[in-house]
Amino acid sequence: MRSERGVRRWRWQWALLLPAALVFVTQAPIAADKARRWLPLNQDGIHDPKSPALRVLQEPGEALSRLPADAAGVGNQVNWVKALEQGRIDPRANIRAQTAIRTLDTDILLNLRGGTPIVRFPHRQHTLWLDCSNCHEHLFKSKAGANKLSMQRILQGEQCGVCHGAVSFPLTQCGRCHNTPRKRPLPVAAVPGS
Ligand code: HEC
Ligand code: HEC
Ligand code: HEC
Repeated sequence: MRSERGVRRWRWQWALLLPAALVFVTQAPIAADKARRWLPLNQDGIHDPKSPALRVLQEPGEALSRLPADAAGVGNQVNWVKALEQGRIDPRANIRAQTAIRTLDTDILLNLRGGTPIVRFPHRQHTLWLDCSNCHEHLFKSKAGANKLSMQRILQGEQCGVCHGAVSFPLTQCGRCHNTPRKRPLPVAAVPGS
């Protein structure tokens, strides 16, 4: 098992992978698409190849190849945001009928003073998967500008990096977060439609 420290160190190395990732992204999506291959369950090193139960499980290749491709070919090679938006998957939002489902459709512009493109944080794309309590108030205070966000801490697996690079798209995909060109004058606050 990897130690906490080992995981941290690895996260820093994402930054070193950046040039490689950029080259890969610019080399046309076809390359990534051709490389879309999933290990069969009996070779993935997770499932017992001798287990009779394998027969009743769906092969990842069969299921995931039908979903929109991740442009960089990372992770399990699916763009899950697109898969949900295009209605290709319909995940169940609650187990108990009485659990309230809360979604929010506001975007927050982060990193207004930096040099990289602005980070537009979409509440909608997050609350389609997550409850408010997954982030508020322990990870982020629900007040614009109240969190001392920093790329360094994100790369160390804190803040956005608790999920991105772990269960959601990796930190090498800079442009999915730094997604909004910087215009002058700088926008002061954040919430379109309000
Ligand atoms: C999961 C989302 C996410 C990803 C992916 C991401 N960033 Fe960031 N980044 C942020 C946030 C949020 C901040 C804002 C910190 C702040 O408010 O100052 C930030 C800030 C920065 C800053 C400091 C401010 C600035 O603009 O100068 C740099 C530099 C930066 N990111 C570079 C990168 C690079 C390079 C990558 C790809 C290797 C990357 N980021 C990937 C979310 C992300
Ligand atoms: C994936 C994490 C995440 C989830 C889930 C999430 N938020 Fe947020 N929320 C943020 C971040 C990041 C900010 C920006 C904080 C900042 O600017 O420092 C924010 C800001 C806010 C703000 C203050 C900005 C504004 O629009 O006034 C409110 C209110 C808020 N969230 C409410 C909610 C509610 C209600 C839910 C559930 C329906 C929710 N959030 C779900 C991460 C999240
Ligand atoms: C609690 C987990 C969690 C945290 C914390 C979190 N995210 Fe996410 N984020 C997700 C998930 C899950 C998705 C949607 C599924 C996927 O793409 O993996 C997502 C999607 C996104 C998208 C949509 C990308 C697209 O293609 O439309 C952006 C942008 C994003 N996150 C930025 C951020 C930023 C910036 C932060 C920190 C301020 C952050 N996230 C914090 C889990 C998280």
